Amino acid sequence: VDVTYLDYAVLEDRGWCLEDAALFEKAAAADLDAGAYGTLSVRPDRTLLESAEQAGQAWPYSCRGGACANCAVAVLEGELSQPVNHVLPAEAIDRGIRLSCVGYPITDELRVVYYVKHLPSIADLRL
Ligand code: FES
Repeated sequence: VDVTYLDYAVLEDRGWCLEDAALFEKAAAADLDAGAYGTLSVRPDRTLLESAEQAGQAWPYSCRGGACANCAVAVLEGELSQPVNHVLPAEAIDRGIRLSCVGYPITDELRVVYYVKHLPSIADLRL
């Protein structure tokens, strides 16, 4: 499974928004470093967070058990399973937020924005 990722901090820096249909195309053209934007392979038997770490990424996390939302990602394309969730309200899930520490890829391709705990559009949820 190929996962293309983008750091939410880049959206804040550049004033890009999550709803922009061309977001990943902009990121691809922006000469970002490999920590902020890139593609990694995820084995179906590994969580997204584990795969990111194996690829040398330093994505945020804390509990690794579905309870803190530090590892939350916004899934913009594809789907990530969510077998454990003690923190995300239904509204966050409706908005495509998933937990990378417990989530396994379900689709062949995924596009995710990581580090979204402080995303303004979910700030009202107080994760
Ligand atoms: Fe805490 Fe994923 S690291 S929910």
